[in-house]
Amino acid sequence: SGSILSPTPPMGFNNWSAFMCGLNESIFIETAHSMVDNGLLAAGYNRINLDDCWSTMERATNGSMVVDTEKFPRGLPWLTKYLKSLGFIPGIYTDAGLKSCGGYPGAYGYEEIDARDFASWGFDFLKLDGCNMPTGTQAEYKQVYGKWHKILSSLPKPMAFSESAPAYFAEAANLTDWYAVMEWVPEYGQLARHSRDTLVFNSTLYWPDITGWDSILFNYGQEIRLARFQKPGYYNDPDFLIVDHFDLTMDEKRSHFAIWSALSAPLIISAWIPGFSKADFEYLTNKDIIAVNQDKLVFQSTVVSQDENWDVLTKSLSNGDRLLTIINKGKSTASYSVSFERIGLTTDQHVRVKDLWSGKSNVAKNRVTATSIPSHGTAILRLSAVHKSLGRVIPTGKVFNT
Ligand code: GLA
Repeated sequence: SGSILSPTPPMGFNNWSAFMCGLNESIFIETAHSMVDNGLLAAGYNRINLDDCWSTMERATNGSMVVDTEKFPRGLPWLTKYLKSLGFIPGIYTDAGLKSCGGYPGAYGYEEIDARDFASWGFDFLKLDGCNMPTGTQAEYKQVYGKWHKILSSLPKPMAFSESAPAYFAEAANLTDWYAVMEWVPEYGQLARHSRDTLVFNSTLYWPDITGWDSILFNYGQEIRLARFQKPGYYNDPDFLIVDHFDLTMDEKRSHFAIWSALSAPLIISAWIPGFSKADFEYLTNKDIIAVNQDKLVFQSTVVSQDENWDVLTKSLSNGDRLLTIINKGKSTASYSVSFERIGLTTDQHVRVKDLWSGKSNVAKNRVTATSIPSHGTAILRLSAVHKSLGRVIPTGKVFNT
């Protein structure tokens, strides 16, 4: 019924991880220009999303949210028009509860007014956070997110809807509510945060115990468990690409991008893009890896083996190819070899293997070997059948051989 609002995972920019409440007009303008000049827009990163703290602390007498004109002197309709003129789709943030996570006015009770305002200001994407709900029950989240779904989908131009509800149930000892929330989330919106924040700075506000590489592996681990919910038009969201995190090595950043791509996760960069190195722009615009992220099956990868040092993942691609992703969690550079059997191929197969980092191909029999994977690096390989179909792996979220 109807067309799918976002048939492949959204790509773009959000200010939060890098700027938190310090957002302003010039950050978005300079970011947009840098994205155009350095090929990010052309590579598919076409969304620019504002996060929390863009408003004043009080609503106007008519109930509308009021933009902070110290941060956005020309106002939001001006900004969205400017971003659209460059080819971007603008997005905005609010919170389903009484206050946002940053303490700004929440939308609870103001849903119609806010949706109408956001649309009339030129936004086509809404991230709806879930802090400070009146009671915080699972049923309440369902009711309020359901209300937003109805309002957003009945706007003259439907708005992409990024939900945060699952994240608020992910840390409980009993995950019944987390999975219960996941039953309705894919019906209401196009993407949903299900775990922690990946932050650029250490912040005492948010889970200070886990940051950088550890938070990347943590969110990946959470996402894997929700594999069965992802489908064209709905994506599990393991949070932003934290490209300029102070503590990430280049290998870790490339892994971050490769893993998110192997999951067909949203690729939303949260960092100071104008400050990126040439190498940053290069890996973020890797066409072969973006094609895997944007593959029209949008399958998440299945973990086919996992131990202390290695994770091996595979997923089917729409043209019959197979993706093989090998994460080196260990402390030293090493090679790793995966038998055909491990990924469900028969030994009479011949497979062409393309290394998506180097672009080089070879032919493999019986096993696929990735050589010299650096510590915290990831090999990402595209396998094509030479003479026999590779079969299809249906994602279930089950982790094998743990
Ligand atoms: C939560 C979200 C973040 C960000 C902040 C804003 O922590 O998970 O992505 O939106 O709130 O306050």
